[in-house]
Amino acid sequence: MALRLVAAFLLLCLATAASAQQAVSWKTGREAQGIERRIDALLRRMTLEEKVGQLHLSGRGEGFDVEQVRSGAMGAVMNFVVPAEILAVQKAVRESRLRIPLIIGLDAVHGFSTYFPLPLGQASSWNPELIEKAAYWTGREASAAGVNWTFAPMVDISRDPRWGRTLEGAGEDAYLGSVVAAARTRGYQRGGVATTAKHFVGYGAVEGGRDYNTAWIPTSQLFDLHLPPFKASFEAGAMTAMAAFNTLNGVPATAHRGMLTDLLRGKWGFRGFVTSDFGSITELRLHGIARDDAEAARKALLAGIDMDMMGDVYHNHLAAEVRAGRVPVKAVDEAVRRVLRVKFHLGLFDRPDVDPAAAPKLMQTEAAREVALQAAREGAILLKNADILPIREGVKSVAVIGAMAVPEDERVWTDPAGLGRRAITPLPDALRERLPKDVSVTFEPALTKNCGTEFADREAAIRAAAASDLVVAMLGEDCEFMGEAASRTKLGLPGVQQELLEALVATGKPVVLVLATGRPLVLGWASEHVSAILQTFHGGTEGRAAIADILTGRYNPSGRLPMSFPRSVGQIPVYYGGLPTGRPARPGERYSSVYMDERNEPLYPFGHGLSYSRFTYSSPRVSAASMPLNGAVDVSVDVGNSGPRDGQEVVQLYIRQPVAGRSRPLRELKSFSKVTLRNGETKTVRFRLAAAAMGAHDDRGAYVVEPGQFEIYLGGSSRAAVMVKVSLAKP
Ligand code: BGC
Repeated sequence: MALRLVAAFLLLCLATAASAQQAVSWKTGREAQGIERRIDALLRRMTLEEKVGQLHLSGRGEGFDVEQVRSGAMGAVMNFVVPAEILAVQKAVRESRLRIPLIIGLDAVHGFSTYFPLPLGQASSWNPELIEKAAYWTGREASAAGVNWTFAPMVDISRDPRWGRTLEGAGEDAYLGSVVAAARTRGYQRGGVATTAKHFVGYGAVEGGRDYNTAWIPTSQLFDLHLPPFKASFEAGAMTAMAAFNTLNGVPATAHRGMLTDLLRGKWGFRGFVTSDFGSITELRLHGIARDDAEAARKALLAGIDMDMMGDVYHNHLAAEVRAGRVPVKAVDEAVRRVLRVKFHLGLFDRPDVDPAAAPKLMQTEAAREVALQAAREGAILLKNADILPIREGVKSVAVIGAMAVPEDERVWTDPAGLGRRAITPLPDALRERLPKDVSVTFEPALTKNCGTEFADREAAIRAAAASDLVVAMLGEDCEFMGEAASRTKLGLPGVQQELLEALVATGKPVVLVLATGRPLVLGWASEHVSAILQTFHGGTEGRAAIADILTGRYNPSGRLPMSFPRSVGQIPVYYGGLPTGRPARPGERYSSVYMDERNEPLYPFGHGLSYSRFTYSSPRVSAASMPLNGAVDVSVDVGNSGPRDGQEVVQLYIRQPVAGRSRPLRELKSFSKVTLRNGETKTVRFRLAAAAMGAHDDRGAYVVEPGQFEIYLGGSSRAAVMVKVSLAKP
């Protein structure tokens, strides 16, 4: 017995040691001081070329020169996913004179081998613990394959669904964005990879939603809206940052000393390194601030860009710039110090090389897939339900329509390293598994591919729909329609999908529209004509299983929108946190702030999402009617589930200061809590609201909390109706 106990204890120690070794974080105290001394010692031994090498990041593929790794001219690599290939570069760097380990980067944006919903879909869960777990498993799988740095999380706030990269972020809100940024940062780093808060800063505000375009952001808005998620990510320990492609108020972010050096390092005390984005240093020429690459290299380095991603600009020019006296070697030393610092804090000097034989066993584990399933369930948002879901007993035949219902091999979440072992369940199969035996489920792809640009057999799809009791159409955006460089001006269903949807509705059969998109689409027609809409932001490996769980009622939907859904493109930007105007909307009345041809409100507001349960809000209260500027109050509200099922509600708290020195938003999310309520149960949900969180930035970027009255709204969306007041008084 005693022996067994000892053995169990030893096993526990080993397991803890293994997981402790996995997690990466900033070291503190003596350990951090020791690292600085090791960096000093290393810097003294380095040639100028070796220093510049540490700032050179190059990627797998054409043009990759492993000789640069061997000669110490390359300190970082990216896009390697196959463990054996990673091992080869790790071996190559050990042939270099100083044997400084490589930092190995990858866009593990929403998964590595197990895929989780797109980040926007994860944000839709409003469940930070779950989001952290998804990032943890992504980090763990990536690090098991030898990756030690991810180019995530993208924490750009965007109020513009025309921008294709909205899918990589957490939506329109600074508070939700900050909570998600911190959760993802913690998760990835616990899983063993350093994170990159990107894109610093303003990329989500590119004009017209056109990728890589200019961003003009007033200082107060920069600090209130765009910077908080970055700050949250750094406070959670993010070890690196990536500069944005865009210009910010006329200065390319890649050469923005004010942001990169004065704010990030000066004011915020960031100790990690900043990488450029892909080729963005050489793009400084095209932005019109550098005559040639040498000048671009100089400007980027002196502004605070430590590492050159895929540009070869530092590699080709930096040493010469130093020798010509145009760049002080001290500036290069500082950049190298920051890169080495991250490598030391990551433990790269002491980590063993990747073990390609062990890696596959760590992919798509049961635990990771469970998190993927839960994240896909909680990230799906029921936008509309005309009493048709969950699928009723009387339904005896279901026609699943749309190529997207069955995963395609080439999708982004196919396992990049080929390490995953289990298949993704197609939606028709998942439904068959869950519905009673006597319900038939047929499938017609209707479209040649997920992209939805061409019909395969349109008629067969319509015949199947007409012969069924219920149509489940899985449509949306895929292929080139989403992600980077996928800005759109028309936000309808791409290709022939609208035509397909209308034909399905014309059969007279009830249609459940399941959407998998990378952004909010304009869903006016669908919202009027289909019976239910379930919005997903591509649910990943377990996405279709999760959809089946929701359609059949095995899971009661709990996702909430992280972004407003516009009624028409012309409303964009449409978001919940606007300022009041001097001419509040009076529909139909000219000279009030309205459109002649569209309503002001979005089709579905921020925070919205239906459940199979109904939730009620009552008795909002605060622990004190007033608080000092350095104080806090407890806010509580009774939330009830009036049935008919157990469910989860996202209780949201918004504030408004109706009168202040400057105009304040009509609503600002300040807190939320996802609670589980049994059928018939009522719970008191409590929040702590600190006065310090109720201020705003002025035109110089200074944070001001103003005394006065505040309204606190509580509810299940940004239209929360229950209200209580508190005043902020000078102490
Ligand atoms: C994107 C970055 C990404 C990088 C590397 C760029 O085009 O803007 O977000 O990390 O490519 O793949």
